Amino acid sequence: MSDRQLACLVLAAGKGTRLKSRTPKVLHAVAGRPMIGHVADAVNALSPNRVAIVVGPDMDAVAAATVPWIVAVQERQRGTADAVLAAGDLLAGFDGDVLVVFGDTPLITTETLERMVARRRAADNPAVVVLGMRPDDPAQYGRLVLGADDGLEAIVEFADATPEQKSIGLCNGGLMAFDGRRLPELLDGIEDGNAQSEYYLTDAVAVARRNGHLCAFVEGSAIEVHGINSRAELAMAEAYMQDRLRASAMAGGATMIDPGSVFLAADTVLGRDVTIGPSVVFGPGVTVEDDVEIRAFSHIEGAVVRRGAIVGPFARLRPGTELGPGARIGNFVEIKNATLGAGAKANHLSYLGDAGIGAGANIGAGTITCNYDGFLKHRTEIGEGAFIGSNTALAAPVRIGDRANVGAGSVIVRDVADDALAVARGEQVEKTGAAKRYRARKAAEKARKSK
Ligand code: UD1
Ligand code: MG
Repeated sequence: MSDRQLACLVLAAGKGTRLKSRTPKVLHAVAGRPMIGHVADAVNALSPNRVAIVVGPDMDAVAAATVPWIVAVQERQRGTADAVLAAGDLLAGFDGDVLVVFGDTPLITTETLERMVARRRAADNPAVVVLGMRPDDPAQYGRLVLGADDGLEAIVEFADATPEQKSIGLCNGGLMAFDGRRLPELLDGIEDGNAQSEYYLTDAVAVARRNGHLCAFVEGSAIEVHGINSRAELAMAEAYMQDRLRASAMAGGATMIDPGSVFLAADTVLGRDVTIGPSVVFGPGVTVEDDVEIRAFSHIEGAVVRRGAIVGPFARLRPGTELGPGARIGNFVEIKNATLGAGAKANHLSYLGDAGIGAGANIGAGTITCNYDGFLKHRTEIGEGAFIGSNTALAAPVRIGDRANVGAGSVIVRDVADDALAVARGEQVEKTGAAKRYRARKAAEKARKSK
């Protein structure tokens, strides 16, 4: 059986009107990735022989986000069965299995899709397999109607259900697997005589039964088929996804002191014995190696943090940051497009942008790389073992040599040689007894005026 072919159809033509957004629904992000990207991961992991996505008109951005999938356009949204018909060309002559998934259910897992396909391929050869679920609140989901032998007889949409059918707890998760040899015949039998005047794909079950074919269902978690139609449901999906990502980070060997306050991106990579403090946010593109500590209230995106580094509290790592092994980034330090060598330190109040900082360099409190001249960005290079005094401005492009020192409060506009000391600030002047004379003069002035 397993040499049967598999085609996946991803339905995403819905406009998502209730999101009240200019962005198509399936491009809204969950855990830092468009929701269709999560669906794509789950689907692609099945290695299907063909995949198509059904989009509405003017959804080129959705098509672009799912390259190399074949794109079918459904001109008018006339229901889920009509959406499958819109991808008809892809399925012409296809006699393998056809899995229909929704673009707005980002929590679906490959494992559940595999169970559906396996059930479809079981010896009793059901024409249709439906993903069922028992949510705490069955709300407006379609209901699965079972026959005397517990076989699936029909799916009734909420809008068309009798009060008795509404009391059924077993709901339709929406995803369906078909025997591709039967699909044309099933689609042919679907009509739009229902409350919403739509062609419901769910009616394929009743059509199959009428034509004498077996239908079956597998049960999955209601969370996996949580569909997104509103901003509130988007926030719920984010919460579910975060719980899943946190659990997997901890299972992988990361310690989280307050997991509920840590936000991860779908692609966050955490090594072993990483410790993450409360209220840390990871944007996309972060890799954290073993034995790193990320302290509270840090915000990290597009960054690589090598083994044993310590970041935060209150640090911000922006895209293009690479921290070497054992580097230390302290509070209120912002780093962008900059590489720090092994053991380099910037512990307080700095901005390091477009910079290369050598191993063991020490960046004093308040150091700023002035990387932008109002027109272009320029680089700052700081050599190995260099020491930058506090409150230094490094006007890029500029290079500080290996083991060079820069005096505190300097404004550095020219390169500094290896092993040199550069000081670029006003000379210190000292006038003996001047403060005392000043106080005496002012006191006398005040006494004269108050007479
Ligand atoms: C669907 C099921 C319902 C199930 C629920 C689970 C049908 C008829 N009903 O209802 O039984 O309980 O999912 O969430 O399938 N789409 C198109 N073109 C269309 C219509 C829809 O591409 O013409 C796409 C949507 O973009 C969406 C998916 O199909 O990704 C499902 O459509 P939606 O309108 O959300 O169906 P539900 O009302 O949620
Ligand atoms: Mg829906």
